[in-house]
Amino acid sequence: MCGIVGYTGGEACVPILLEGLEALAYRGYDSAGVAVFDGEKISLCKAQGQLSNLSVLLREQPLAGSCGIGHTRWATHGEPSYVNAHPHMDDAKQIALVHNGIIENYQNLKQMLIQKGCEFVSETDTEVVAQLIGSLYMGDCLSAVLAAMRLMEGSFALSILFYDEPRTIYCCCKDSPMVVGHSESASFVASDIPALLPYTRDVCFMEDKQIAVLRPDGVDYFNEFGLPIEKTLTHIDWDVEAAKKGNFEHFMMKEIFEEPVAFKKTLEQYVSVKELRLKTDIFPWSQEEAAALKKLSIVSCGTAYHAALLGKKFIERMAGLPVEVDIASEFRYGDAVLEPGDSLMVISQSGETADTIAALRMANGRGCRTVAICNVIGSTIAREAETVLFTYAGPEIAVAATKSYLTQLIVLYLTALDLAQKRGRMSAEAVASRILEMAAMPERMQRILDNRERIQYFASRAFSVKHVFFIGRGIDHALAMEAALKLKEISYIHSEAYAAGELKHGTIALIEEGSLVVALATQPELLKKMASNMEEVRVRGARVLAVTNGPADGVAANSHEQWELEPMEETLTPFCAILPMQLLAYYMAVQKGCSVDRPRNLAKSVTVE
Ligand code: F6R
Repeated sequence: MCGIVGYTGGEACVPILLEGLEALAYRGYDSAGVAVFDGEKISLCKAQGQLSNLSVLLREQPLAGSCGIGHTRWATHGEPSYVNAHPHMDDAKQIALVHNGIIENYQNLKQMLIQKGCEFVSETDTEVVAQLIGSLYMGDCLSAVLAAMRLMEGSFALSILFYDEPRTIYCCCKDSPMVVGHSESASFVASDIPALLPYTRDVCFMEDKQIAVLRPDGVDYFNEFGLPIEKTLTHIDWDVEAAKKGNFEHFMMKEIFEEPVAFKKTLEQYVSVKELRLKTDIFPWSQEEAAALKKLSIVSCGTAYHAALLGKKFIERMAGLPVEVDIASEFRYGDAVLEPGDSLMVISQSGETADTIAALRMANGRGCRTVAICNVIGSTIAREAETVLFTYAGPEIAVAATKSYLTQLIVLYLTALDLAQKRGRMSAEAVASRILEMAAMPERMQRILDNRERIQYFASRAFSVKHVFFIGRGIDHALAMEAALKLKEISYIHSEAYAAGELKHGTIALIEEGSLVVALATQPELLKKMASNMEEVRVRGARVLAVTNGPADGVAANSHEQWELEPMEETLTPFCAILPMQLLAYYMAVQKGCSVDRPRNLAKSVTVE
């Protein structure tokens, strides 16, 4: 949601700002704008719609200057429009700023500012912040920002230009991500790392209520009391190319193709493939702690929630440990029973999802043992969890999570193996045989990708379907949840996942001539049951696509099409079965002409509630 970039250095800032905004476009936006300081005045340029509209305007009316800020807006307060687009200025035109987040008390602040004589042109909470800082500014920029921070409630990441301080950008944040980039002769700010990668990999992650003052020759950091603080630089080793589309038409396809490599990278962080053993010290619980665990809670949102559902299956089956899974937005306002010492795990690709952060903070506040599975070093969740198990998916740009989901599953699976071994439920030999099979997984996955034409062909015949039902049992049901989400979010085809055994309790009433049912049937001991469920829907007119673990009895007669995975140990099937599901969603969306990488109404990183 919303993207911020800022640059101050020796070069013309507009191309750098536009490139940065392009790199953040995946977060979702409906308008964009820049503010540039040319040494004499601050000028704005804004446009509704695609970034290309802003680029055209800037070509027609160029803005010169080597210090500027830019923004992609995802409307929260006020419709997507030119006036509501950022940057916003105060009445005196002394300040221009861009903002991510939501100022919860903006109505009160606005009333107070109107009484002081401020006139507002937009409906945004951001303009309120600009006017607020303007009204607090008495010649000292830092003091004005500090005073405004004390008055604002809610979440914010702000980048601010002051007319009185040329070539300087003030930045601060609370509950909204912000990362500052350092280089020899320039300083940068962005709401996410990909915007900085072409210029620097040396970054500082801003923490709540800290202030960064960016100048071409360096950055000064202050705490919420205005005292100077030292911050440590983090070196990001993501490849610049990893955040580019390369020869692929869409980021989503590129990221699906990166899954075998992401699998290998993540696996190798947690196991010694040569010795076929887990690097047990990396996992959060010691042998005694693992043995004493009574339950584990996992909390996350969206795709990461679906990973948690599979994690529950893995951990309960292999380690015999009860696992409770919650959606973060439910968990934080529910009546969670959390005792000091309880273990709570959060899962988040971005590490910045507002509800997941809230759940983590709640658990930290109650003295729980907290563990995060996270893809982004330096993100809020990675900083605040007691232990972090990183995924090694690299930057994920497409809104639809693909490779991050796969790598979350790997970490969950390995956590289950580690707990199983430490709790005496699996021998080292049994663990070794799973690791051996996992080590062969990237090649199996690659073969699915190489044979994708069949999936593409199926999608070309099925894309006009109105409803798709994904059914499965056990592990397959958890996977079906993610398959249904992928399809609906990028193709806008109504799709639902059901536990196959639940069909008869109501849902089967929805099945009619031409409904598409995708039956995930990879679990041998449940195959007979699945075959009956397939028959139930087939005889009611559904077209049935079955996905099986090798050849499977009773499936051919009850399905119209069968996609066989190479046979494997049943708990490992999700690693391969997810690929055809992601590809199916992708090809259906492409056939329908949908915006695959940026589906409507969605943002990559949900940093507000
Ligand atoms: C769907 C998708 C979302 C995210 C969810 C959580 O494809 O990407 O459902 O999984 O918003 O995001 P993170 O993992 O960043 O916390």
